[in-house]
Amino acid sequence: MAILVTGGCGFIGSHTVVELLNAGKDVIVIDNLDNSSEKSLERVKEITGKDVTFYKLDIRDREGLEKLFTDRKDIEGCIHFAGKKAVGESVAFPWEYYENNIGGTLTLIDVMRKHGVKNLIFSSSSTVYGDPDSVPVTEESPVKKCTNPYGSTKAMQETILTDIQHADSEWNIVLLRYFNPIGAHKSGKIGEDPNGIPNNLMPYITQVAVGKLEYLRVFGDDYPTPDGTGIRDYIHVVDLAKGHVCAVNKVMSGTGVNIYNLGTGNGYSVLEIIQAFEKANDVKIPYVIKERREGDIATCYADPKKAYEELGWKAEYDLERMCKDSWRFIRNVSK
Ligand code: NAD
Ligand code: UD1
Repeated sequence: MAILVTGGCGFIGSHTVVELLNAGKDVIVIDNLDNSSEKSLERVKEITGKDVTFYKLDIRDREGLEKLFTDRKDIEGCIHFAGKKAVGESVAFPWEYYENNIGGTLTLIDVMRKHGVKNLIFSSSSTVYGDPDSVPVTEESPVKKCTNPYGSTKAMQETILTDIQHADSEWNIVLLRYFNPIGAHKSGKIGEDPNGIPNNLMPYITQVAVGKLEYLRVFGDDYPTPDGTGIRDYIHVVDLAKGHVCAVNKVMSGTGVNIYNLGTGNGYSVLEIIQAFEKANDVKIPYVIKERREGDIATCYADPKKAYEELGWKAEYDLERMCKDSWRFIRNVSK
């Protein structure tokens, strides 16, 4: 039996494919290569010594999906990563975000149910908690209005999937709320290397470290945190990937809709991340304090207890390891 991975050429998808293959699963990847390249799967094969079947396919392409599910009767479940994820871009192009993320998911699950495949793991985000009333956030913390269309697509997809499972109890759905994934595979072969100016902290830091960007802009030092900069729960992408392997086992055991935070439970400030990166890699990261970024919050980190108790999963890698692995990957691609 095989697991279908949508968006499997991307950052989190490619690391998850490695862990699925390491766990002995058969994997089929589909991706439209909108934000990735097929090369990542070649690297996955180098890392694991195993084969992955790849179809260049868009999740909005109903005919293509019909053909895939007709040809591959061995698909037993799907890990659904495919989606657009740039917050700023989503503000400028909301239609494109709703059409791709919501439209794509609706088409995918419709074709899945027609073919009797009703096991799905969905990539959600801690962004659904908005500005939380208290930390750490548990899965019971309220879902709040998002400040941008990207975040809204995540909250809406959670609602859609939950409603569909309530109407048809044959569906088994796991909603994984990721905190802030950073790091890269230890081989340095796969990782995150966004096009253009990065939005997220770690890709920005690594570009400063390789000299592509002059300095980091720290967005605000007047938050109600010990050093005034924003606090987040950074998680190694390999830990996150392993969480998906545990979630596959859960979804196959058939128990309705389950939601899990995938985070470490530790919060670090922007200044702590800069210091950790400098220390781990012996490089200097020049930075300048700037205005707060619109839509940002002061503090968010996870209570990861539920994932430990129910999935047997917990994050293992520390911040030093995340910084070292991010740096190794970016040096490899910058050569
Ligand atoms: P990514 O952009 O590296 O990967 C997403 C992949 O989906 C890309 O390879 C892209 O080409 C593909 N894709 C996009 N639209 C598609 C479509 N219509 N049909 C087929 N393929 C399509 O992003 P990532 O960081 O690996 O994120 C994976 C998922 O996790 C996304 O849904 C993202 O929103 C979610 N997520 C990411 C983060 C993060 O910080 N990276 C945090 C929370 C949630
Ligand atoms: C952002 C998105 C969130 C998305 C997540 C993916 C926003 C408002 N939120 O979350 O929807 O799910 O990425 O991981 O964009 N920072 C700097 N300088 C930079 C970049 C970031 O100081 O150049 C700071 C931010 O202010 C924040 C922290 O670093 O305090 C982390 O930022 P980032 O990596 O963008 O993640 P989030 O804001 O948590």
